[in-house]
Amino acid sequence: MLVVVEMSVAKIARFPYSFCIMKQVYLNTFGCQMNVADTDRMELVLFHSGYQRTLEKEDADLILVNTCSIREKAEQKTFSLFGGLRSLKVSNPDLILGLTGCLGQQEGEQLLKRMPYLDFVMGPDQVEGIAQAVDRVRSTGEPFVWTGFDHGKVYSIPELSDDLPRAPGPSAFVNIIKGCDKFCTFCVVPFTRGREKSREPEELFGEIRHLVNRGAKEIILLGQNVNSYGKRGLKNAMPFHELLYRVAEIPGLQRLRFTTSHPNDFTRETIRAYRDLDMLMNHLHLPVQSGNNRVLKAMRRDHTIEEYLDLLAELKSAVPDISLSTDIIVGFPGETDEDFEDTLKVMEEVGYSSSFMFAYSPRPGTPASELPDSVPDETKKRRLQETISLQSRRTEQRGQSFVGKNVAVLIEGKSSKPGYIFKGRNPQYWNVNIRGGESLLRAGATAHVQVEQVSGHSLNGRAIL
Ligand code: SAH
Ligand code: SF4
Ligand code: F3S
Repeated sequence: MLVVVEMSVAKIARFPYSFCIMKQVYLNTFGCQMNVADTDRMELVLFHSGYQRTLEKEDADLILVNTCSIREKAEQKTFSLFGGLRSLKVSNPDLILGLTGCLGQQEGEQLLKRMPYLDFVMGPDQVEGIAQAVDRVRSTGEPFVWTGFDHGKVYSIPELSDDLPRAPGPSAFVNIIKGCDKFCTFCVVPFTRGREKSREPEELFGEIRHLVNRGAKEIILLGQNVNSYGKRGLKNAMPFHELLYRVAEIPGLQRLRFTTSHPNDFTRETIRAYRDLDMLMNHLHLPVQSGNNRVLKAMRRDHTIEEYLDLLAELKSAVPDISLSTDIIVGFPGETDEDFEDTLKVMEEVGYSSSFMFAYSPRPGTPASELPDSVPDETKKRRLQETISLQSRRTEQRGQSFVGKNVAVLIEGKSSKPGYIFKGRNPQYWNVNIRGGESLLRAGATAHVQVEQVSGHSLNGRAIL
């Protein structure tokens, strides 16, 4: 039987895990940093109810796949993963299989019909209730869908006890806003994540202080549109730029970043914050999507390319060594070769250090999906390849500008590149592989590195001791 439930998130009870053998949960995440943060949160909530994370699905009592539906490819990957999980469920009927995240929100019951071996489907607003969902399956054995939106005005993440399954890394994400009210015509996010809701500043400061006390050196403020932070619903309302100034006062915090920004909500005060706050790292991810005004309008981005470029010109003159990255969609319905040329021109002009480039993929329920998907796949592929080649050249050039220079790198962990010991990020968000310094350096330290080479999106260099 199929039941669609609305459950309220009760206070999460603390589990006396230290006296018990813990059950094993295998977690798999698709999609953006928001989903990664949601998976981390589910890990934490489940930890408090007696589960520890395993990296082997064969050992798991519970498997959760946190899904994404931003493009068709993301969905296909999920379905092929579940194809493989089915045999685990057949050989171990006690195994619980849950699908969470944006695809769950979008497709709901359809997923139980398509994959009858699934135990439950949950949307992104239900992460706090993951332990209840698992209990419900254990006690009833009935599959269910839990996809209601949280109707509160404010986004709040309940505090759990100090016990953590693991310490935060040197760089930690903190959700400040969820949802999106922009309704770009190609995008499912406003439908899967619901309306924009911000967290109260005090709750954020508390979480950041806690992470810093536990070893985090860098905080990345997270949201689909962080610049819209604090616009509605907060008791202690505060615009985004003010939040930056306030977070920067937290003792022990060394670096601050944020992602993602929308050009229309990105204010001049935020440019000033880059200039005023040394700890606000000199990188901005500002999606442009297209360089053509007609396409931007059809995408409902609500700004012109001239406005976008003016904003970047102002930012570059205030912060000359800022590095920029972007998102680009090629093959949006009606995009001509000339329209596409405008995108290449903007890429040339801005000189992004990296771009995330996508072929347009019609998504169910979005306004653009009602337009004829007029650009043939072959043309989308060709345009995508052109943007990728242009970006690789630009990335190489941008990278070369660091060669011979000393850069400050927050070490995040071990490098997987042969001959290099550590890896981390410089202020401009380049990945840096470091050789030397093994006896003096460690994760969480800031190393001074002489850059020797560029390789793809990474810089390689030697620690200066
Ligand atoms: N909130 C961010 C990013 C959202 S999703 C923003 O506003 O920019 C990340 C990226 O996926 C988008 O920036 C867009 O480039 C891409 N994307 C979203 N929907 C898409 C679709 N239907 N087809 C192809 N790419 C898409
Ligand atoms: Fe999607 Fe646009 Fe919102 Fe970004 S701003 S999440 S692209 S609707
Ligand atoms: Fe995907 Fe949802 Fe993020 S659709 S990109 S996981 S907000």
